[in-house]
Amino acid sequence: MNVNGKPQRTIWLARDGWGVEIIDQTLLPHVFATVRLETAEETARAIKDMLVRGAPLIGATAAYGMSLAMRHDPSDGNLDRAHAMLLETRPTAINLRWALDGMRALLAPLPASGRAAAAYGRAAAICDEDVAINRAIGENGKAIIDTLWRERSRPKSLNILTHCNAGWLATVDWGTALAPIYAAHDSGIPVHVWVDETRPRNQGASLTAWELGQHGIPHTVIVDNAGGHLMQHGMVDMCIVGTDRTTARGDVCNKIGTYLKALAAHDNGVPFYVGLPSPTIDWTVNDGVREIPIEQRDGGEVSRIAGRTASGEVAAVTLVPEGCAVANHAFDVTPARLVTGLITERGVCAASAEGLRSLFPERR
Ligand code: MRU
Repeated sequence: MNVNGKPQRTIWLARDGWGVEIIDQTLLPHVFATVRLETAEETARAIKDMLVRGAPLIGATAAYGMSLAMRHDPSDGNLDRAHAMLLETRPTAINLRWALDGMRALLAPLPASGRAAAAYGRAAAICDEDVAINRAIGENGKAIIDTLWRERSRPKSLNILTHCNAGWLATVDWGTALAPIYAAHDSGIPVHVWVDETRPRNQGASLTAWELGQHGIPHTVIVDNAGGHLMQHGMVDMCIVGTDRTTARGDVCNKIGTYLKALAAHDNGVPFYVGLPSPTIDWTVNDGVREIPIEQRDGGEVSRIAGRTASGEVAAVTLVPEGCAVANHAFDVTPARLVTGLITERGVCAASAEGLRSLFPERR
């Protein structure tokens, strides 16, 4: 995607060929700044502190974290240590385990002297594969948007609601939920996006709104509780969300609040789609509600809120009474029965074991 008119990925190798550069997403939308990572420890901190976030980008970043670890010390001990340290940073997004397990399986049989080069090669391939997957999700989802646009023949635009940030910033490029929206916009379909602000970290208000603005896509930020009302009044034509982990039977784990949007969509007959890259499918799990570990984040994200003040600086303020108990469940699970379809790189399928296996027969 473009930032200030220039093509930009969310992670890339520095000019020296070994340092890894990322965008510090904690500073957006107020400041666009990049950060250089030189060690696996710095990489783990960047993931944990959410300088990078979004399931696909977390996986890609962790792969580069393994590369940095191998550059410094390619021993068996360091391979296991880096794998364990990176794995514990974010428990819900399955792309993290997918990327790390793949790296370890590739590197462990190699002589130590060949591990760093192989790790950098695989990390770069994960990034390129992510871009290709998301482009394909974009094309497959665009066909759905196109059909809806023709059916609805709206006078002005097709209204799409999304939650959290499953855009370019959550991936290496293009995004998952937002890829079909970019593809539709670029092909001339007039889309308008309702952007859930997505408390507590406000990835919708801060990140989705920013990247849609960079691409010139009309959008409006709404409070998280507005979606049901808009759907009741015919102001939402479809929902598209991302996912941090989808089970083999199609249960969708995504940012907290997604389930409530799916319930409202179901009640109002609004199609509810999920942009799903295949590395986000956890084939080992069926019942998402019972089997997926839900990350509990720092309560400070709930009790405080940050933003730009009238004098221009970015500051945080406290919202709750002194000493008030807060809870911060970062994700929830939308049961497959509430999902209209899964938009994958191989096509669109029903959110069911049969649907997923029809597109991924090798998983039978
Ligand atoms: O906690 P985050 O910001 O890493 O959460 C990830 C998300 O942005 C969403 O849940 C997203 O919809 C899935 S990642 C494409």
